[in-house]
Amino acid sequence: MRIAVVYKSSTGFTERYARYVSKELDADLVKYSDRKKVNSGDYDILIFGSSIIAARISAVEWFDKKRGDFKHSFLFVTGANPKENNPDLDKYIASEKAKGHDMVYLPGGLNYEKMSAPMRFVMKKMFLPMVKKESGENSLMYKMVSSSYSLYDEKYAKPLLDEVRKVLVENKE
Ligand SMILES: Cc1cc2nc3c(=O)[nH]c(=O)nc-3n(C[C@H](O)[C@H](O)[C@H](O)COP(=O)(O)O)c2cc1C
Repeated sequence: MRIAVVYKSSTGFTERYARYVSKELDADLVKYSDRKKVNSGDYDILIFGSSIIAARISAVEWFDKKRGDFKHSFLFVTGANPKENNPDLDKYIASEKAKGHDMVYLPGGLNYEKMSAPMRFVMKKMFLPMVKKESGENSLMYKMVSSSYSLYDEKYAKPLLDEVRKVLVENKE
């Protein structure tokens, strides 16, 4: 079965996971800007990787529209949140699942250096003051999001790789 990994990434976290996933699955790696090259005549499985921006999965509308064309489709999403012991994240994942977005969440981080100027502006003027108000200036969360950090770890991609490999095995028989 042929697999395409389409990814949308601004600061590199989603791209890094997409590269790893495509290498592990021997899949073609396609930037979101080249998405028109990906069609169901050439691929059986579509994997879409994106990130959470202001509590929304970026470009998920494209995936929603496109996924029905393929025999199988998978969604992975990166964000600033740590995965472990994070009830707010669990709630968010459940709310997206209710909308039909059954995703694998992969912790990314924040990279202020690679953010576009408007994005950095939003982070500094809206996101940081919001975290400060909600969690307090001395909170771990506020300290974490005040500068760049990475939570990237290949281990988080294992559930996604397992799901896709299960489909590959089922279709071999
Ligand atoms: C403007 C902006 C808003 C963001 N909003 C959220 C958010 O609501 N929840 C979250 O977990 N991460 C949020 N993030 C963090 C990104 O999802 C995270 O950095 C992601 O890994 C970026 O992926 P990329 O490097 O592939 O672009 C935000 C980042 C930016 C720049």
